[in-house]
Amino acid sequence: MTHPNETTQPITDIIRQRFSCRSYLEEPIPAEKRRQLQDFIGALPNGPFGSRPSFFLVAADREDSHALKDLGTYGFIRGATGFIIGITDTGEKNLEDYGYQMEQIILEATRLGLGTCWLGGSFTRSSFARKINAANDALIPAVTSIGEIANVTEARNGLLRRQINADQRLPWEQLFFDQNFAAPLTRQTAGEYVIPLEMLRIGPSASNKQPWRVLKDGHRWHFYLQRTKGYRENSLTRFLGVADMQRLDLGIAMCHFELTARELGLPGKWLSAEPAIVKPDELTEYTVSWAE
Ligand SMILES: Cc1cc2nc3c(=O)[nH]c(=O)nc-3n(C[C@H](O)[C@H](O)[C@H](O)COP(=O)(O)O)c2cc1C
Repeated sequence: MTHPNETTQPITDIIRQRFSCRSYLEEPIPAEKRRQLQDFIGALPNGPFGSRPSFFLVAADREDSHALKDLGTYGFIRGATGFIIGITDTGEKNLEDYGYQMEQIILEATRLGLGTCWLGGSFTRSSFARKINAANDALIPAVTSIGEIANVTEARNGLLRRQINADQRLPWEQLFFDQNFAAPLTRQTAGEYVIPLEMLRIGPSASNKQPWRVLKDGHRWHFYLQRTKGYRENSLTRFLGVADMQRLDLGIAMCHFELTARELGLPGKWLSAEPAIVKPDELTEYTVSWAE
């Protein structure tokens, strides 16, 4: 995660420091920070499912804040001086990989002291697609606004963050399970994985819906997406080409969990091997497992 010349800041601190910043200073990101971010993007390995989205850091235009509203994003973004825009392929679990990689870039930006906000909408054929000369059918599942934070206290306490209870997260018992979905996982049973799970829990998600569920099964941690009813069924959003944002959320959860586990020296790898465990409802889908 870190540049060799930087003092290392624990990933747990960076994850705690991140929040969705919607108000930025109207001055460009300093060249040195831009360079570090570009280098980081250039050095990103493939996502855990093997896809390789391309990400671009671009400067913002005056009209962008207004354009965002028409593209189906929520919350007004003030003064962002840049955007990170990515294109993904059509591979299976491409959106999870996109979420995972974009979140890595966001955490690096956070380490550099920059503010960021995930923005989900229909970016295909938008002014954002034109900024990166994307082909007409290029898949841009979401973009991230980026810039120097106007005022940390004010940005953290902004109206939208209060309205959507952005600092609130579901309680541990509703997210993490022990061998079956009827048994909540205790912190004691989670052992050293308490911290990776806690870092997952404080991560960002579209509309703060927190659709991630994790089930411990011996030395395997199964990740599931529990869809929010009505969130994706809206045919208008599909028609407009808005990506399946809850799948991006799962990629973000994987990123926070894995980076924290690695920092704690907990070895493991991602496997696609759905266990024969009964899912709580038809809204719940298996995504991936972390094998210790
Ligand atoms: C995939 C995704 C899409 C999002 N889209 C938007 C958006 O369009 N507009 C916005 O203001 N925030 C957006 N957010 C930010 C969430 O609202 C935010 O992460 C959540 O409310 C938790 O707050 P926090 O990030 O400040 O911790 C998005 C987040 C994710 C992960």
